[in-house]
Amino acid sequence: MHIHKYEKWWLVFGTGTLIAFLIIIGVSAFHSGTHPNNSKWTLDYEKVDETAPFDNPGVHKVEGKDWDYEVVLVASAFSYNPTEIEIPVGSKVRFIATTKDVIHGFEVAGTNINMMLEPGYVSEQITTVDQVGEFTIVCNEYCGVGHAMMYSTLKVVEADDNSSHK
Ligand code: CUA
Repeated sequence: MHIHKYEKWWLVFGTGTLIAFLIIIGVSAFHSGTHPNNSKWTLDYEKVDETAPFDNPGVHKVEGKDWDYEVVLVASAFSYNPTEIEIPVGSKVRFIATTKDVIHGFEVAGTNINMMLEPGYVSEQITTVDQVGEFTIVCNEYCGVGHAMMYSTLKVVEADDNSSHK
């Protein structure tokens, strides 16, 4: 069988890039430990309300950890619990979230906080909130008729304001 010269080059190029990408994925997954952020911590999605820490959703100040606050958040069709999160600016925050039913998103619009919430899995993201303002948390996974109405609010406040009313 005769294969045209350019066809051969193209075959070599196609096979070469496939192998190159498989090597990149393999090295990052098995050597560098890159994987979905929710692949390690699982739970029974039908028992979210009884499972710690989701039995107590909200903003929790923590001591002696690498972060200052833990925000525990439960998504369900079509809302988030809590509906409002308030954090002093400059805090390091660990967001811990899951869903009670279908796949939802957790995106803090205008920031790089963005997680996919899948039933049976816990998603986490640690970040420092360094910009004062009110940010809308939106669901960015289509989850049903109420998808567009599903939101929560992250309020990043001046550190002083926060301590004065606590
Ligand atoms: Cu929840 Cu879309």
